[in-house]
Amino acid sequence: MNSKQSFSIILIIAIIIVVLYSCKDIGSELLLPLGLSASSTNVSVVKGASKQITLSGGKSPYSIKRPPNAATAAVSLASSILTISGIDTGSTNTIVADSNIPIADSLEIIISILETVPLVSFSNQIQPIFNSQCTGCHGGTGGLTITAGASYNNLVNVNAQSSCPSLKRVLPNDASNSVLYRKVSGTTCGQQMPQGGALSATDITLIRNWINQGANNN
Ligand code: HEC
Repeated sequence: MNSKQSFSIILIIAIIIVVLYSCKDIGSELLLPLGLSASSTNVSVVKGASKQITLSGGKSPYSIKRPPNAATAAVSLASSILTISGIDTGSTNTIVADSNIPIADSLEIIISILETVPLVSFSNQIQPIFNSQCTGCHGGTGGLTITAGASYNNLVNVNAQSSCPSLKRVLPNDASNSVLYRKVSGTTCGQQMPQGGALSATDITLIRNWINQGANNN
């Protein structure tokens, strides 16, 4: 081998080393597609509170590619921790990304902001509504008695009679399929209750929340 040939061989080896080295970054990403992931991609946060999820995989540093609707939620990212704060009830989404080359991985995170509803007390909040608005007619005569002591057992999981007889008067956790809620909110099942009038929006919401919390006998 003359000196010219050995020089060419050394040059070829050098080129191969340089090419392999420069491909290492891309190559490792192509060969090991450990994509970007998150500890949760469907997050519920109570309005006014915040929750953190952890990003992993892909190639850090991570970034927020698209923020959520600012009226609903706010997000901030510190290293791999994404903090989601609830601004107002509703749902929105955010897109986070890693810094993969040539194309960054992105991940959509769906955010739901929920209202917290304090636990409704049947005896302290619901029965007083019946006492002042209902027992004049539902006090013992006729089909439905909702006086204190009798009301719970006459409502919860009891079939309705005159109105929507295929439904329960109160089906725990399902206000929209409970005759009591339908009648006080005026949606289907005959006449709105109290007959000839209507409860305040606050009382109607209390009855709905009480049923949707499981219609507790509390
Ligand atoms: C002025 C009398 C009157 C008042 C006050 C009244 N109701 Fe009624 N209620 C009736 C009559 C009459 C019926 C039967 C006809 C019907 O179902 O619409 C009835 C039916 C119902 C039913 C259906 C029962 C079933 O099994 O079909 C529910 C539930 C009910 N009332 C709840 C209430 C509640 C809760 C209040 C108070 C917020 C109230 N009512 C106030 C007269 C009244």
